Amino acid sequence: MSRILMVASEATPFAKSGGLADVVGALPAELVKQGHEVAVLMPRYRRIPWEDTESAFDNMVVYAGSTPYRVDIRKALHNGVTYFFVEAPYFFDRNGLYDDGGREYGDNHRRFAVLSLAALGVAQTVFPCDILHCHDWQAALVPIYKADQQHGNPFFDHVRTVLTIHNLGYQGRYGKECFWDLGLNSGWFSPDKLEFHGDLDILKGGLAIADWLTTVSPTYAREIQTYEGGFGLDSVLYSRSSALTGILNGVDYDEWNPAIDKLIPANFSPADLSGKRECKLQVLGEFGLPIDNSDRPLIGIVSRFASQKGFDLIAGLVPFIEENDIQLAVLGSGEWRYEQMFNEWQRRFPGKVGVWIGYNNALAHKIEAGSDLFLMPSLYEPCGLNQIYSLKYGTVPLVRATGGLDDTIQEDTGFKFSWYSTGALYDCLRAALGAYRNRDAWKARMLRGMNKDFSWAVSAGAYSDLYRMLLGRA
Ligand code: ADP
Ligand code: GLC
Repeated sequence: MSRILMVASEATPFAKSGGLADVVGALPAELVKQGHEVAVLMPRYRRIPWEDTESAFDNMVVYAGSTPYRVDIRKALHNGVTYFFVEAPYFFDRNGLYDDGGREYGDNHRRFAVLSLAALGVAQTVFPCDILHCHDWQAALVPIYKADQQHGNPFFDHVRTVLTIHNLGYQGRYGKECFWDLGLNSGWFSPDKLEFHGDLDILKGGLAIADWLTTVSPTYAREIQTYEGGFGLDSVLYSRSSALTGILNGVDYDEWNPAIDKLIPANFSPADLSGKRECKLQVLGEFGLPIDNSDRPLIGIVSRFASQKGFDLIAGLVPFIEENDIQLAVLGSGEWRYEQMFNEWQRRFPGKVGVWIGYNNALAHKIEAGSDLFLMPSLYEPCGLNQIYSLKYGTVPLVRATGGLDDTIQEDTGFKFSWYSTGALYDCLRAALGAYRNRDAWKARMLRGMNKDFSWAVSAGAYSDLYRMLLGRA
């Protein structure tokens, strides 16, 4: 049994911008089931009602160099796990998690430095731990501050740090002037630590210092050590390859399971698929698409509109939409050009393309349940959760063979293409539409996907083994 304090910038049900929140909202509970004591520390953003939390520690003062920051620590219980919140209104009482409508906050390096400093405070007061498990760049200063401020402190001697990379595309890279706000001495600003070609790179420092690194799929663990997948940090990662593991994410089948999902109009399961048709009719209705022919394939997209997700390939699909009798339901938000593109498609292809710009969890569930095909042609994908949800909902994923998409989707459960081009995507879509005509074979493919098991137990077991190894326990 270990005591683990996870540090992250988001977790369901409190605050979510993407899959990181799903992971930090579910993995801790599974680790608890496996006998560990686990807590999570994250900011108390404005969207988390203060009244839903209670005091855990008042007036904690943490220091970035000589600059003191006073924070309170609040807490709430979720799934049997204590979630601690850093109460620092000056930094976190804002509308967005990281930005205000598209423009990143200018003080994110300081906001998440305070989160990291508070983690060391929590570990010394309300939740002494053996493992500090940090997620993404927002928590990557934890191992740095631990080494800088707690070196020689017997309280931290045995504590090991794990840093999980959910997305190497986000590194917390800022101008050098931001480095001085962190209160670290200049020795930390060097190319083997926090410096990236003259800039501050917070993730890079964490990757260099943490005791162990993980990422969220075995294939992504390999890809990030290459020039193509390394976002400039491939040599750092390669040099740490003996302390880098890819552990595939699980998914939370209490939340994402068509047999019990309360957010969809009819439940269904491998034993009785009949409810899926009602789900499809409802999605079509919500998107204002005609329901004259429920045999016409409905393609679903639920995504952040970011280049990572392959939208430049999707942009080339106009001829495909013109030529084929299909319907497309799109939910997402992000880069303005893609929001514009989908709005324009909706006007241009009425009855074929339905679009909902924004974040809508219930609609995400409905699209997963009601679609026939799920489209996810990512440029890169550390793990990806939507394609795994799709499998469970009998919605056949069509993915690009990269990262976790390659690890979770096989030819017998979905469709995959490798070369990153609209042509390859187009051919793959055509193959999928051809296969869709053979309804028995399609149903068999759906059922194989629905019967796959990506529950958290296996992944949490791999993290347990890692913690045990790091703590030198048998
Ligand atoms: P990423 O974390 O890179 O965005 P993942 O596939 O790991 O990709 O996770 C995305 C998560 O965010 C899923 O739970 C998905 O349902 C959810 N999601 C993404 N966009 C939206 C949206 N517009 N509305 C509701 N949920 C969304
Ligand atoms: C990131 C990745 C995504 C992964 C998620 C959870 O946001 O982009 O692929 O599934 O983190 O690990």
